[in-house]
Amino acid sequence: MARSARWRELDPQRLSPEARRLKEGLLARVVGQEPAIESLTTIHQIWRSGLSDPNRPIASFLLLGPTGTGKTRLVESLAELLFSDRRALLKIDCAEFSHSHEIARLIGSPPGYLGHRDTPPYLSQENVDRHQTREHPVTLLLFDEIEKANDALWMLLLGILDKGVLTLGTNEQVDLTRCLIFMTSNVGADHFDRLHDKPMGFRSTLPYVAPDMSQVSESVLEATRRIFSPEFLNRIDRRIVFNSLGEEQFKRILDLELGYVRSRVRKRLDVDLRCTPAARRYLLEKGTNPRYGARPLRGLLESEVLFAVANLIGSGQVGEGDAVQIDARRDGSGLSFRSHRASAAAAASGGGSATATLAPVESQETLREMGGRELVPAGRA
Ligand SMILES: Nc1ncnc2c1ncn2[C@@H]1O[C@H](COP(=O)(O)OP(=O)(O)OP(=O)(O)O)[C@@H](O)[C@H]1O
Ligand SMILES: [Mg+2]
Repeated sequence: MARSARWRELDPQRLSPEARRLKEGLLARVVGQEPAIESLTTIHQIWRSGLSDPNRPIASFLLLGPTGTGKTRLVESLAELLFSDRRALLKIDCAEFSHSHEIARLIGSPPGYLGHRDTPPYLSQENVDRHQTREHPVTLLLFDEIEKANDALWMLLLGILDKGVLTLGTNEQVDLTRCLIFMTSNVGADHFDRLHDKPMGFRSTLPYVAPDMSQVSESVLEATRRIFSPEFLNRIDRRIVFNSLGEEQFKRILDLELGYVRSRVRKRLDVDLRCTPAARRYLLEKGTNPRYGARPLRGLLESEVLFAVANLIGSGQVGEGDAVQIDARRDGSGLSFRSHRASAAAAASGGGSATATLAPVESQETLREMGGRELVPAGRA
């Protein structure tokens, strides 16, 4: 008797738990670049299902778009999620290879050349496999600013993208089929600049809304078609134009970056850093810019928050268990710092628990009521 065939409806959009975790991890780290994350998750799923072409690198991505919008951060975040280390990737700054003889640093020199033993090639098999783990047998290979590569590097790239094999100066072959290759370029980013042709300075552009990407995306891709050869572009699996960032995204990035600073401080001492809304506004105005993206933010947090807190800890003004409130000076000249000592306030409030005294401090007034004191980081007094 023939068994009746029962067809089950399937959902080709459903991700594996692993791919879902990866996607969520990337979304938590890279703000406002959902299409790029979507694309990366899909490729990861194809690879994990064993369906990627075994005779080529797992996949190659051309990441385009304005500076400071998360292109490098995306690759670093992937490294962090796969290997628990943001630096677990091979990065090649193409600008450092503007002369063809410099290519020897990547592939080594042929035997007989002066110094051929002194310069171990950066792209040796050992180095390429260095970060791979049993769980994630993959290498993240990042070529930054590829438009600055010289012809020799282009030839190298074409070979790698095509066959996943690299021939070293010694004629040894390096297998690059277990690589995810990322190439970044700012080609066409001037199309974004024109959108920002407003009075400069973030103050004058707030509130700033990210432009409609569909207008720009095609122009950027068009620019890449003018600059890069078809044989190169046709070898690339995904071309992704990163979004320009707007005020909402900058706010989320500030939260992320403040979170990193907070956890760095906490690794050293149990100190609770809080930022008032005024301090956040100050940091956003000074550290972000539609034209340069979020790039200046990290430096600003380092120079105005991290260094100051380091001084406060070093000079003994802040100690274990303290809460430190970061506020903006009224005259806009910088940030001010105040502390609230958990134990003192606990005693004043009749021995309340330490957690109770560490409730969020949102204004100078609250802090004063709690017996807070002004702190002076070195060089500020
Ligand atoms: N979308 C984003 N999400 C989270 N952080 C971001 C984002 N964009 C930028 N940043 C912050 O700005 C810094 C610089 O970003 P990133 O290095 O990714 O820029 P990029 O797009 O690679 O620029 P470039 O084209 O100049 O290399 C990051 O280290 C991060 O602190
Ligand atoms: Mg970059």
